[in-house]
Formats: sequence, C-alpha cells, structure tokens
Amino acid sequence: MRVLGIETSCDDTGVAIYDYNRGLLANYKYSQGILHSKYGGIVPELAAREHVNRIISLILSALRKVNSNHKNSINGIAYTAGPGLIGSLLVGATVARALAYAWKIPAIGVHHMEAHLLAPMIENINITKIIKFPFISLLVSGGHTQLVLVKSMGEYKILGESLDDAVGEVFDKIAVLLGLKYPGGELLSKIAQTGSERYKFPRPMVNKPGFNFSFSGLKTAVARVIMSSSNDQQTRADIAYSFQSAVIETLIIKCRRAISQNRVKQLVVSGGVSANTVLRSNFEKMMHSIKGRLFIPKLEFCVDNGAMIAYTGLMRLQSELYTNNNSNNGNLSIIVKPRWSLESLSKI
Ligand code: KG4
Ligand code: ZN
Repeated sequence: MRVLGIETSCDDTGVAIYDYNRGLLANYKYSQGILHSKYGGIVPELAAREHVNRIISLILSALRKVNSNHKNSINGIAYTAGPGLIGSLLVGATVARALAYAWKIPAIGVHHMEAHLLAPMIENINITKIIKFPFISLLVSGGHTQLVLVKSMGEYKILGESLDDAVGEVFDKIAVLLGLKYPGGELLSKIAQTGSERYKFPRPMVNKPGFNFSFSGLKTAVARVIMSSSNDQQTRADIAYSFQSAVIETLIIKCRRAISQNRVKQLVVSGGVSANTVLRSNFEKMMHSIKGRLFIPKLEFCVDNGAMIAYTGLMRLQSELYTNNNSNNGNLSIIVKPRWSLESLSKI
C-alpha cells in the first residue's frame, strides 16, 4: 500500500509518499517562516493563502519523484484534519478529498499529534515491533505540550498537559524578547550553546503531584530578567541557556514520574521541540540511567512534515480500527477539527 500524505495544520506545507514495503519515497516541504517572521507570529489568513500557493507544486514534485501516474500507484490519501488553524487545515483537506474523489481512492483525516507521536517510526516501520505497549509519549510542539500514556496503537490517555503556553510557544516568545526572528526556538538553542546557567529560573509545578505543566510563570520570570539586564551577547546566551535548562529539567522530572508511576521503560519524545539537541541528549542520559529506551524522531521528522501524516494515514487505512467518517471516498464533505483531543481517537 502507498499513501500520499498532506500536512497543512499550521505554517508548513508538507507532502510525502510512504510505501508499506519500501518506506518513505518522497518528502517535500515549504516553510513559511520568512512570511510570518515580520509579524512575530503566524498570521492565520496569510498561512492559509500560502498553502494554496504551494500545495499543488509540492504534490506534483512528490508524484514525479516516485515516477507515479498516481491513478494506479497511490492507494490512499492522508491529510491533517486537526488540531490546527482552520483555514490552513481546510486547504489540505480540500485538496486531499478532491484528489481522492478524482482518483477513486480513500482519503483519511489524520490527527496531527498522533502523527507526531508516531514520527520515530517513519524511518523504520519495524520499530512498531520493538516498542512495547504501553509506553509514555511526551509531545512538545508549538501548539501542544502533552504527556500521554499510549496503551496501544490509537489508544491514548492524556496524563497531563500544559495549562497555558506550549513549550514551543514559550521558546518562540522568549526568542522574540531576545531579539531573534520568529520562529525562534532553534535560534534560541543556538545562542544558548555559548551560555551557562547564570540565572536559576523556576522549574514550574515540579513539586505539585500529577503531570500538568505551566510555563507562563517561567516566561514572565525570564522576561523580567531580559528587561532588566544588559543586552550584551554573553548575557543573552546565559539567559537562553538558563531558560532552556529550566524547561528541559521540568519536562524530564515529569516524564520520569510518568515512567515510574506507570511502570514502563519506553519513552517517545516528539514534536518540533524534540529537535532541540540539549533536550535530546539529556533525555537520552535520563533513559539510560533508568535502563529504559528512548525513541525520538530524526531531526527532519521532529518539526511538521508530510511524512508523519503519510505514515499515520497508512497505519490507519491498513487497520480496521480506523473506519472513521473520513475514510469514505464517496463522501465529499470536508471536515476539519481545529480542536481535537487525542483521547477521542480511541472512541472512533
Ligand atoms: O511540531 P512543530 O513543527 O509545529 C507545531 O505542531 O506546533 O513545532 C514547532 C515548534 C516551534 O515553536 C519551534 O520554535 C520549536 O518547535 N522548535 C524548537 C527547536 N526546533 C523547533 N524549540 C527548541 N529548540 C529547537 N531546536
Ligand atoms: Zn506539529
């Protein structure tokens, strides 16, 4: 089976083709970072319009890469149905449904966070045989911070989540205050490389039981230090380093707790922030110290991409589990879900 995946939940247009036997065959992406950077954040209407401008040429590139005349080589189309920005989601959903109708193949709406969660498996479909259920998943993106107990494929229990800003969002906001361009998570981590922990920022909610997060207090604490400090390069590097340490340590404390309370030894960390190299190595050390195993996507599959949508769509189309309202090719209704809980997937 071969699936065309389309990702348009936010500001990246991603298109990929995934084959069950041969793996990832094509993976193309257009990032709108430059378009939004002058506004310091994503402008939803501009994002949707830019998806319209880019999506067809990306699909054509992907089809060309696999020498496909699509009609007989693509067996299904997966698109991000939510959560995300409604205008952006509608672009991908409309194109996917129209193509599926024309090619007489099924189209399926994929949950963006489930796709992030499964991203470590893109490179090696056999990981599904290595990962033992249940396991814990930490999802850290620009829109979500969630700790999830994965009971089986498609069966998720949210143990905790951020009560306010998502981790990626805080990285981006602090980056703006440090004078970096949006989206600044990666740039912030770069300047942190020459910093040290000169400031001891709070590790929010680590002394409270449970698994929820809250990052707005930390954001305010860091913002205060930025406002009252000199703007020299070393100070900015030290602030970036200290902020990054506070976030990563907080995430590690909560993950360790989830791992020990649920008596599991396997952890998946994914979503855009899992591209952070310090986060990756600190989680690796932590899992090594408890003789557990960490699964983390390759860098290009941490941030939004079409490959994770194609892979998740393939898994869902192949499984009887996923006869949800989206997989019927005769159904032309375009349904997107800007808000969509991972837990509700188990109930389909
Ligand atoms: O998963 P993603 O591509 O989009 C959403 O679904 O939100 O995540 C994007 C987020 C942005 O906030 C971005 O700044 C952050 O991931 N990010 C990073 C790094 N690379 C991307 N944050 C910290 N360190 C990085 N290296
Ligand atoms: Zn994402």
